[in-house]
Amino acid sequence: MNYVVSEVLLSKDTISKKVQELGEQIAQDYAGEDLVTVGILKGAVVFLSDLVRHIENNVNVIMDFMAVSSYGDSTKTCGVVKINKDIDTSIKGKHVLIVEDIVDTGLTLSYLIRLMKERHPKSVRVCVLLDKMERRKVPVSVDYKGFDIPDEFVVGYGLDYAGKWRNLPSIHVVDVQE
Ligand code: IMP
Ligand code: MG
Repeated sequence: MNYVVSEVLLSKDTISKKVQELGEQIAQDYAGEDLVTVGILKGAVVFLSDLVRHIENNVNVIMDFMAVSSYGDSTKTCGVVKINKDIDTSIKGKHVLIVEDIVDTGLTLSYLIRLMKERHPKSVRVCVLLDKMERRKVPVSVDYKGFDIPDEFVVGYGLDYAGKWRNLPSIHVVDVQE
């Protein structure tokens, strides 16, 4: 089977406008505060790097990162998430914003929210660029969302298929050619 990048689902201009809106909203909500952004590697890197440049308003942004991988059995709802790299920042008493490329089944984010809350932050919120709501297995409360998308596999703007296509400036659907 051959996988090819096909139609543009979200153009770079559409993405850029939305990211600006999200950043400005976040800047308003955390005006004058400290905020630790927790970017989930590697998919969220492109989104986060654009997003933080729209978070002004005297928000003192500390950028940190986590790398996770989810274990195999995607049919189970208890999903085990392995932490490959944890944040270096102590988040006790601080505002935390988890930034992720896409929420699909919700297993990764629901695990990460729980993990962050155990560390007694002042607050934990979630910002995702994309939401594939149809595929949700566990509820996740998303505070800042870019776009709802249909149940298609997408790449570009940080999102990959087997490590490829993260560098594309727009978001595309991946097609299978037989
Ligand atoms: P969840 O735990 O099922 O919500 O998984 C979310 C993770 O799956 C994301 O961080 C992505 O790495 C990956 N993922 C889900 N859908 C897509 C997609 O359409 N393109 C690229 N990665 C995806
Ligand atoms: Mg990911």
